[in-house]
Amino acid sequence: MMMKQALISFLSLILLFLLQSSSGPTNFTKILEKVGHFSFFIRLLKATTVRDQIERQLNDTNSGVTVFAPTDNAFSGLSSGTLNTLSDPQKELLIQFHVLSSYIPPTRFQTLRNPLRTNAGTNSRYEYPLNVTSSGNSVNISTGITNTSVSSIVYSDGQLAVYQVDKVLLPWSIFGAKPPAMAPAPAPLKPIKQNSTAVADGDDSTDDDDHNKLNASAAVSLMGMQHVVFLFGASMVLAIFSL
Ligand SMILES: *[C@@H]1O[C@H](CO)[C@@H](O)[C@H](O)[C@H]1NC(C)=O
Ligand SMILES: *[C@@H]1O[C@H](CO)[C@@H](O)[C@H](O)[C@H]1NC(C)=O
Ligand SMILES: *[C@@H]1O[C@H](CO)[C@@H](O)[C@H](O)[C@H]1NC(C)=O
Ligand SMILES: *[C@@H]1O[C@H](CO)[C@@H](O)[C@H](O)[C@H]1NC(C)=O
Ligand SMILES: *[C@@H]1O[C@H](CO)[C@@H](O)[C@H](O)[C@H]1NC(C)=O
Ligand SMILES: *[C@@H]1O[C@H](CO)[C@@H](O)[C@H](O)[C@H]1NC(C)=O
Ligand SMILES: *[C@@H]1O[C@H](CO)[C@@H](O)[C@H](O)[C@H]1NC(C)=O
Repeated sequence: MMMKQALISFLSLILLFLLQSSSGPTNFTKILEKVGHFSFFIRLLKATTVRDQIERQLNDTNSGVTVFAPTDNAFSGLSSGTLNTLSDPQKELLIQFHVLSSYIPPTRFQTLRNPLRTNAGTNSRYEYPLNVTSSGNSVNISTGITNTSVSSIVYSDGQLAVYQVDKVLLPWSIFGAKPPAMAPAPAPLKPIKQNSTAVADGDDSTDDDDHNKLNASAAVSLMGMQHVVFLFGASMVLAIFSL
């Protein structure tokens, strides 16, 4: 057990060294930008105060941060108007819901007690709960609305862990308790349309339309050296993980 822990710390150190060979604190946005298919999530991190919160937590605390980062495809897979119907505070909560205020390495998911407390809401773990179940290399996530799993380890350095998810995690507290005025049954999945006049929301939601226009060229993935190093590192961690 100690051996395994030591190996993992050692590999994490190598990863950290390879990826952060320049000095200074971890630049969270940069890590996401390098991967290339998180442009929508990055935009929402910047549009809300969540990016600053994450930076502050990384700067000022030792407990670290864990982020479940939805891909651009995850956002375009949302049913039409999902984001437009949210108020700004709800959008903030939605993004905070993807962040945990402690560093959780891949090996630790099995030992966590559900539900996990996310950065959304108050200090109660029951307000915006997130459940994870893990076995072997797979980590499943359930919110009561969204079921998905971690599809890859984007980054892990002992302070910050970023996991890719292929669905946006929708919190029950926002999407489970919709007033009956909305729709009698869960809305069928529709592709995002440029024409959003169907959205029954206030005038102040029109600027969200920009969020729905994904720039496909921004999603081109990067096959530079760092990416390769990165995958190499991540698979080493996985290999150890499965020992
Ligand atoms: C992080 O990197 C992004 C670009 O990748 C840059 O715009 C931003 O200023 C950097 N933040 C810090 C705190 O260095
Ligand atoms: C975190 O630290 C970096 C560099 O020390 C600084 O540029 C950045 O503004 C800090 N971010 C926050 C949110 O305090
Ligand atoms: C994760 O979900 C998949 C598909 O729903 C399932 O086959 C698998 O057993 C689940 N794993 C865990 C650890 O819950
Ligand atoms: C999450 O886990 C808790 C504790 O096991 C359980 O009570 C709750 O029903 C679970 N919720 C979901 C959505 O899986
Ligand atoms: C999500 O997963 C839970 C178990 O974690 C399961 O009880 C539930 O039926 C699943 N929901 C959907 C919509 O697949
Ligand atoms: C947008 O949708 C509305 C209602 O469905 C329709 O009346 C209108 O013509 C559409 N506009 C465009 C540009 O497609
Ligand atoms: C998409 O991004 C590319 C380069 O980043 C830019 O040249 C192009 O104009 C953008 N297209 C749109 C529709 O924003």
